[in-house]
Amino acid sequence: MNRVNSVKDLRAQVRQWRKAGERVALIPTMGNLHSGHLHLVEQAQAVSDRTVVSIFVNPMQFGAGEDFESYPRTMLSDSEKLESIATDLLFAPSVAEVYPKPQSQQTRIEVPLISDILCGSSRPGHFVGVATVVCKLFNMVLPDVALFGEKDFQQLMVIRRMVEDLCMPVEIIGVPTVREPDGLALSSRNGYLSDEERAMAPALFRILSETADAIQAGSCDFPLLETRANDALQAAGFRPDYFRIRRSDDLVEATAADRNLVILAAAHLGRARLIDNLTVNLSA
Ligand code: PAF
Repeated sequence: MNRVNSVKDLRAQVRQWRKAGERVALIPTMGNLHSGHLHLVEQAQAVSDRTVVSIFVNPMQFGAGEDFESYPRTMLSDSEKLESIATDLLFAPSVAEVYPKPQSQQTRIEVPLISDILCGSSRPGHFVGVATVVCKLFNMVLPDVALFGEKDFQQLMVIRRMVEDLCMPVEIIGVPTVREPDGLALSSRNGYLSDEERAMAPALFRILSETADAIQAGSCDFPLLETRANDALQAAGFRPDYFRIRRSDDLVEATAADRNLVILAAAHLGRARLIDNLTVNLSA
């Protein structure tokens, strides 16, 4: 596996592949790779000739007081993991390479409305940071296809909107969440959990699943289900940020007439802020 840190070297490599008619996939990450990321690489290999993984802890998507400084940076082991599954290229730029100008002078990408709700309301500016860096990475790599985990459901939706609105020639593929055997969604932030918190953490997925089962069984008083789920999260030791039942195509509040729903949750457990979601299709 080749590793490059500059946009110039990245482009030189990708240009060669494109000349040879090869299809290039990008998996943007912030590193601290787990099996969920490696699954994205495998999915990318199935739909492309070449896979590029970027590792960049993006300062623009972290708010004041969030974990930018302490976010785990594990380049050596990440690089070994990517090598072991035959990734073609690791792009690991510095902050100065991605943002040569001060943040205040950086052009930004704002995807309105869906960036301001749910995680966007608890983390103001987060999705501007995500959309801006993903746009820059797309322009640097010029991939044919890019893959993202569905665990970050709202992020995936923001990226799909950006690509559609700005006519970016990139196919976006969402890949189902990889879970631990007890249901906990894989996340780099699971590493923040103590042993005791790790034992409590699967309650998030359990409560999402119970809510999904209740909806499948005919419950459509969504505010009541949300309140019950919040209470259950608290009883399980979490500090809930939100627990919402939304339409899965636009994240607007769901009504009893809607068939395609997504239940989204974010909750703090110790130092970790965990997010997860489950889609519910009622048309079957
Ligand atoms: O999901 C992530 O790891 C990040 O938000 C992303 C998409 C790599 C942008 O920094």
